[in-house]
Amino acid sequence: MSTILAVIGSARPGRVADKVLDYIKADVANREGIELKVADLKEVDLPFFDNENAPVSPEYTITDPKALAWSELVKSADSVVFITPEYNHTLSAIQKNALDTLGAEWVEKPVTAVAYGWSGGSLAVATLREVLGNLKADTKSDFAQLGFMKDLNPDGSLLDEANVTAQIKSAIDQIA
Ligand SMILES: Cc1cc2nc3c(=O)[nH]c(=O)nc-3n(C[C@H](O)[C@H](O)[C@H](O)COP(=O)(O)O)c2cc1C
Repeated sequence: MSTILAVIGSARPGRVADKVLDYIKADVANREGIELKVADLKEVDLPFFDNENAPVSPEYTITDPKALAWSELVKSADSVVFITPEYNHTLSAIQKNALDTLGAEWVEKPVTAVAYGWSGGSLAVATLREVLGNLKADTKSDFAQLGFMKDLNPDGSLLDEANVTAQIKSAIDQIA
């Protein structure tokens, strides 16, 4: 049994992220030997990064209990799929902070994303790829990019189910 960690990068009530999570769950339900764990960053409730050292530093030690729990979640997963909204042409602050909080945990971790927004979350994806590259994650090439009024309605309900299913399958295939 291998574990995929789905990380919800939105803290909004009524967030589209929950519908995207449902589409990922539907994909994983068709696969054998994979457990999907969910990290809802609203519940993970990390402090804004406040360590005296950078995570790349040999002196970096996590003491905050919530950051420690986040570290254990990421360590225990075989791979990660980020559910990534686009906020002001980049990542949501909650997702960026969750990335910044860890260092070694990301190195060589197989990572993909399902992004969404008016242009399929393309600008959030551009930043996410830069950040994951800097963190030396094993970043996969095929992220799903779901566009509003093309793939999804702005409330997250399906507009082009076949394309959403195919894109998510392709993203999860790489880390399954
Ligand atoms: C602070 C904020 C900034 C946003 N900026 C963008 C943006 O730059 N590009 C975009 O396509 N959508 C943008 N949107 C719209 C989001 O794509 C839309 O609200 C989406 O539902 C957010 O995902 P969520 O519901 O899971 O939080 C923004 C929304 C918020 C709340």
